Amino acid sequence: MRDEQPNVARMWDYHLGGDRAGAADRRLADAVTAACPEVPRAARASRAFLGRVVRHLVDLGVRQFLDLGAGLPTDRNTHEMAGGSRVVYVDIDPLAVLHNRISVVGNPDVTVVQADVRDPELVLRHRDVRHYIDFERPVAVLALAVYHLVPDAEEPAAGTAAIYDHVAPGSYLAISHGSADQAPERAARVTDLYAANGLTLRPRSRSEITTIFDRFGLVGPGLVAADRWHPATPSPPAVPAGWYGGLGRKAGL
Ligand SMILES: C[S@@+](CC[C@H](N)C(=O)[O-])C[C@H]1O[C@@H](n2cnc3c(N)ncnc32)[C@H](O)[C@@H]1O
Repeated sequence: MRDEQPNVARMWDYHLGGDRAGAADRRLADAVTAACPEVPRAARASRAFLGRVVRHLVDLGVRQFLDLGAGLPTDRNTHEMAGGSRVVYVDIDPLAVLHNRISVVGNPDVTVVQADVRDPELVLRHRDVRHYIDFERPVAVLALAVYHLVPDAEEPAAGTAAIYDHVAPGSYLAISHGSADQAPERAARVTDLYAANGLTLRPRSRSEITTIFDRFGLVGPGLVAADRWHPATPSPPAVPAGWYGGLGRKAGL
């Protein structure tokens, strides 16, 4: 059963060097890497961006995180990097939810919710989300490597608009997102591979990704190659196939 249908959470885990992928996941992930060899590096760049953005937000005093499309706990996860913060992981995938639940058993500051980011009202009004996140205070919403799995042109921006209206001033939205800007033919091959396996992938241009930030004003270096966002080393090479990362803020505090 597990090997019949590739699954994006397990494929991402495989690209990151995890061990939860089945044969079908590995087959498609390997085909993706053959079509676009930069993909595993883009996955690592996106994950490293998560670490830097969480630490940056903690330094800014943020103590609440809503992690949308959280994925499997392959690496150090948000709650481990934001020690002492309230963290809610959200994912549509039951397996990702299960593994995250197991990884946070006994931690009173962290919970895991199964929900669809395409229904932001359901996420924001979910009982567990409201129990853990005080929306009267600033919160960081993380949407890393998830909106490229939402195919509809308008849907991600509609979702972040609802989030903007719901969160307190001083809240943040971090997004990382795959793009076809730098390598359109390779990106098209990957999109076709996903489609042939019943999965959707929607790389977006830099300007399309910018619109997903809605009214959250981009801060810091703006929307840049994920490994150029407050890099750990002065001049890391950008991921050639294009993987953007950025942080936006709701003004008012
Ligand atoms: C590529 S992984 C990214 C994981 C993690 N955010 C990271 O950056 O390492 C994408 C995750 O988004 C989840 N996902 C895809 N579509 C979703 C949706 N509509 N609602 C919630 N989660 C979704 C998948 O199940 C998967 O776990």
